Amino acid sequence: MERITVIGAGNVGATCANVIAHKDLANEVVLVDIREGVAEGKALDIWQTAAINNFDTRVVGVTNDYLRTKGSGVVVITSGMPRKPGMSRDDLIKTNAKIIVEVTEKVVKYSPEAIIIVVSNPLDVMTYAAWKTANKPSNKVFGMAGILDTGRYTAFLAEALDVSPKDIQALLLGGHGDSMVPLRRYTSVKGIPITELLGKDEIDKIVERTRKGGGELVNLMGTSAWYAPGAAAAQMVESIVDDQKRIFPVCARLNGEYGVDDLYIGVPVKLGRNGIEEIFELNLNQAEYKLFQESADQVRSVIKVLDDMNLFGD
Ligand code: LAC
Repeated sequence: MERITVIGAGNVGATCANVIAHKDLANEVVLVDIREGVAEGKALDIWQTAAINNFDTRVVGVTNDYLRTKGSGVVVITSGMPRKPGMSRDDLIKTNAKIIVEVTEKVVKYSPEAIIIVVSNPLDVMTYAAWKTANKPSNKVFGMAGILDTGRYTAFLAEALDVSPKDIQALLLGGHGDSMVPLRRYTSVKGIPITELLGKDEIDKIVERTRKGGGELVNLMGTSAWYAPGAAAAQMVESIVDDQKRIFPVCARLNGEYGVDDLYIGVPVKLGRNGIEEIFELNLNQAEYKLFQESADQVRSVIKVLDDMNLFGD
């Protein structure tokens, strides 16, 4: 791919650009920030690892210069305030929604064909805001979170079982919040159902820790995480750019699937050159379905706050 853009040179954006460069997914990665010099500096720092880490991708940083992002094939939006201790992801909505709308308008102006991946919080609602602004089909606008949340779930399971995280297959659904739904029935270790390896209480604890996984890091560091979120977004970019057609939980717009209409929320999808190429509708049991609907209700309640802001003029 010619060009990939990452908006926001904070910790998540810079990490994402770094991983994209390491994977050599494009000729050029453009990192954009509103703070003078920050994107330029981080991009230069990443670019100076090229000879050390053996990649060719040119990494360029700019201050608010969207013209430099022109013709990007994929744009990752990480702009907005990160969470601070005591804040839920949803508390960020008022500040971040305006930023997302502004950024998306500029992205679309210079890269009308781009696939847009949203990383900003509150994730499901910011993705919806970007889609409303972008005026694109929803297979081209979606959000990162499921890969991050699954990454956390997998890490905790690998620790509990003392096995390689690579051998764990896991899936979760729902919003990127405390209502997310890790699916133990769809979790296995080299094909062995997790329920044969761990007791119910142990799995319960891991599920709960996964749901609160972002908050755990906010409490430790005073700000939100970046290595796993940045790497997770880069993995989505890779599946698209290399047309890998990998299957990941992604924040996607549902239009009837899972009995949900016009809502962005995490579900398993196939990611390839055309963005979301398929949404998988799982055959959930009653309990799973109920948890998913509760998570959808939670996302809807935040959308209500967004709607009340009247950002879209309809
Ligand atoms: C997290 C924040 C970035 O889950 O949402 O770490």
